[in-house]
Amino acid sequence: MGTVGATLTGTVVPTVAAAGSFGPEGPIAQAMADLFWLMTALGTVIFVAVVALLVLGLRRHRDEPVGALARSRVEPTSPDVTRSLTARWIVLGGVVLPLVVIVVVFAATLGAMRAVPTAAPEGALHIEVVAHQFWWEIHYPEQDVTTANELYLPVGRPVALELTSSDVIHSLWVPALGGKLDALPDGTTTLVLQADEPGEHETECAEFCGLEHARMGLLVVAEPEQAFEDWVSSRSAPAAEPTGTAAERGREVFLRSDCTRCHAVEGTSEPPADRADDESGPDLTHVASRRTLLADTVPNTPEDLERVVRDASAVKGGVDMPAAELSDQEIADLVAYLGGLQ
Ligand code: CUA
Repeated sequence: MGTVGATLTGTVVPTVAAAGSFGPEGPIAQAMADLFWLMTALGTVIFVAVVALLVLGLRRHRDEPVGALARSRVEPTSPDVTRSLTARWIVLGGVVLPLVVIVVVFAATLGAMRAVPTAAPEGALHIEVVAHQFWWEIHYPEQDVTTANELYLPVGRPVALELTSSDVIHSLWVPALGGKLDALPDGTTTLVLQADEPGEHETECAEFCGLEHARMGLLVVAEPEQAFEDWVSSRSAPAAEPTGTAAERGREVFLRSDCTRCHAVEGTSEPPADRADDESGPDLTHVASRRTLLADTVPNTPEDLERVVRDASAVKGGVDMPAAELSDQEIADLVAYLGGLQ
């Protein structure tokens, strides 16, 4: 989690310190964090107590000859007293205490489970997330917005992510906002998140998914309701046509090259027929407004954009996009065009 200045929509979002699971920023993540800390605290107390008793026991027998270790130094008046002391330790420490701890943890777990919805709650914003091996596809069906590798959500409202996948199993995890859930090719799973504060959050892929598993970031931006609405309306329309001769030439390169087989720029090219198809690539309608490229692999600078256009698999191993068969001039024009799609 880095320092956050102005967001892509121009809205200023407060800086969010490194947080993740230990700094929950929503009610669901908070419930999980509370349970974690309760279990950690109980475990720590019990561990310390057991170690203390162990040390005590060892010290009491320290000065005895080895052969005498088996004998108790309680100085029993009779074997019956020893037996009753031992039985008390076993019943209290081995039965009663574990039972109390398990009941407390079980009750707390049930409470946390109730706080974590497994289906979309009433009033939730629905967002479809399609996992691809090397990127994330995001649709806002009610708002008719499509984007990639960035997830905008409104603050203070539950968001139901309908996860599916075209060709891979990723596990989407936004540590600061909630749990993690697999995106599976053969169905839809629902991950409910909620952010209480504006901020940006990094995600982790929590399931080994092959090459570049560690670089499957999805930038999550929580914005106040109005800023989110502004973002939606800016994304609902095609980007303004980039101006300048290089960008205009780049548009021609884009439309006549192989780019449009997988990528769409709304207003100029049709999206590939089946968006969930594993042949499709990220929607590029507003690509210049994104913070990163290739699912948070490189920053979205003209230099990195050029590297990606030239040969994406050299930047992120295994990426399906073939190296561009274009001249240096054509690549420069293409970068000028794509870099202008705000
Ligand atoms: Cu996706 Cu690991």
